Amino acid sequence: MARGLARELGVRARALDVRRFPDGESLVRARIPADEAILVRSLDDPDAKLVQVLLAADALRRAGARRVILVAPYLSYMRQDRVFRRGEPISQRVVGWLLGDAFDRVLTVEAHLHRTRRLGDVVTCPARSLSAAPLLAQWCRGHPSVKLVVGPDEESEPFVRGLARRAGLAWAVGRKERLGDRRVRLELPELPKLPSFARCLVVDDIGSSGATLAAAARALGRRGLGHVDALVVHALFAPGALRRMRSAGIERVVSCDTVPHATNRIGVAPLLATGFPRGRD
Ligand code: R5P
Repeated sequence: MARGLARELGVRARALDVRRFPDGESLVRARIPADEAILVRSLDDPDAKLVQVLLAADALRRAGARRVILVAPYLSYMRQDRVFRRGEPISQRVVGWLLGDAFDRVLTVEAHLHRTRRLGDVVTCPARSLSAAPLLAQWCRGHPSVKLVVGPDEESEPFVRGLARRAGLAWAVGRKERLGDRRVRLELPELPKLPSFARCLVVDDIGSSGATLAAAARALGRRGLGHVDALVVHALFAPGALRRMRSAGIERVVSCDTVPHATNRIGVAPLLATGFPRGRD
């Protein structure tokens, strides 16, 4: 991702040295001084990676960088955006403070901001979440057999509506109830009339256990729509997720490369590059 973004921006890409001590702590070394550094690190597996990016920001500053920008194609901990049950933290805020303190700017793709208007309301430095909808719509246009886009719940509606509008497709969102980490119940509203051979696309910003996408595919199957593909931005996919989705009838799973995964088909480096002014050296 760093190399792809560097190519887009016409700058050099260099790796930081990261060493793990036997006790699990990390030591990060920045050996190439730069006036402005863009640190590229997706924050899946966040409990390990968050500390490393905070250390990297400090290392880069001590090596001479006056500005350090974080490009985190996937920004974790955005889903816990309120206290759902008494005694819980607002993880989104905590991560926002940490990153806002360490970096001069944060850029990400499709942050999970359903109850928060802008990423800048959470991350305490200038911050921006880029929409993946144009890239996903481009994928849809390249697959004309897809006739319907389905999102799992009302939270996904702006995302699904925006994607469908760009791709010129019909859309619908379901009503989802989460019963556990890997259990979801999902009902669909009335759907537009489609031939039974039409392909449907279940879409979501994040795929984790795969239960949501699987439930959406099953709900389509109950309506006689059995040709289903899945499209996600962030393929966090835990072990067993692909199996769960395939056994629900999903034939093809496609994701953006914000989190490295075998289903990555859509590159986001050109999208990330739009977050930077042109001609920077
Ligand atoms: C939830 O708010 C997200 O948008 C996704 O729907 C959710 O993270 C998917 O999780 P899973 O794949 O475990 O159902």
